[in-house]
Amino acid sequence: MSGLHDAFTPDERALQRALVDAASQRFRAGGRFAWHFARGKLSGDPMFLALLRMGALPPQAQDFLDLGCGQAVLAAWLLAARDRFESGAWPAGWPEPPRVRRLRALELMPADVARGQAAFRASGDEERVSVEQADICQAAFGEAAVDVVTILDVLHYMPLQQQDDVLRRARAALRPGGTLALRVGDAAGGLRFRLSLWADQLVTLARGHGLARLHARPLDEWAAALRALGLAVQTAPTPGGLPFANTFLIARAPASPA
Ligand SMILES: C[S@@+](CC[C@H](N)C(=O)[O-])C[C@H]1O[C@@H](n2cnc3c(N)ncnc32)[C@H](O)[C@@H]1O
Repeated sequence: MSGLHDAFTPDERALQRALVDAASQRFRAGGRFAWHFARGKLSGDPMFLALLRMGALPPQAQDFLDLGCGQAVLAAWLLAARDRFESGAWPAGWPEPPRVRRLRALELMPADVARGQAAFRASGDEERVSVEQADICQAAFGEAAVDVVTILDVLHYMPLQQQDDVLRRARAALRPGGTLALRVGDAAGGLRFRLSLWADQLVTLARGHGLARLHARPLDEWAAALRALGLAVQTAPTPGGLPFANTFLIARAPASPA
């Protein structure tokens, strides 16, 4: 098996380390666990760097909705990336990271919510980043439309019908030209997919969800579900050597409503 970071150059790995340091710093306010968790997640999962490198979240995007946010490490990551860009230390040729004006993050587990809230309160950013306890299968996604909805490694926790309902409401929350960014398991991914399900079962147990039943579909079906919502879909495998069949789906709404 290749290493986690084979997909990145030494300069990119140095950028990742700098962003992990900056982003995880916010979580010190939530205690040692929050800080270690943020560091582990942001440095161990190539998704976060890949999202920036591939320009999945457009530079002009300002208003975000992150569904199933955990302790909201994505928000901290995006703020750190923008700070780094504005300081002039951004890799040549990489897309500009978005300047987050408002990010609303919804999460089911109260302990994660508390850690996320502590992080953004302590850094004076709680107006910009709100972390709220909510079940995304029930919660309203708000009156105001957003530029980006992210749902990263979340949908497989709910049955297909609820996934479709969340996707439909996430689509409805997008502005014209907006982006819906998902990471999902590809049920056609063979052994890699089964490994990812086992890993998820361990994580759900450890996080206090009990032994949850997980629900996935083949990548083609994920893409078809998004196209049926009027979105143009690109897929990209998660880079690096993770043995998991997790895939990005970057879905864009048309620039003007149909
Ligand atoms: C694997 S974690 C991913 C966290 C985050 N998206 C990230 O990439 O760092 C999945 C998260 O989805 C949350 N989740 C699962 N079902 C949910 C629901 N119905 N409503 C809100 N959050 C949910 C879990 O509690 C967990 O924090």
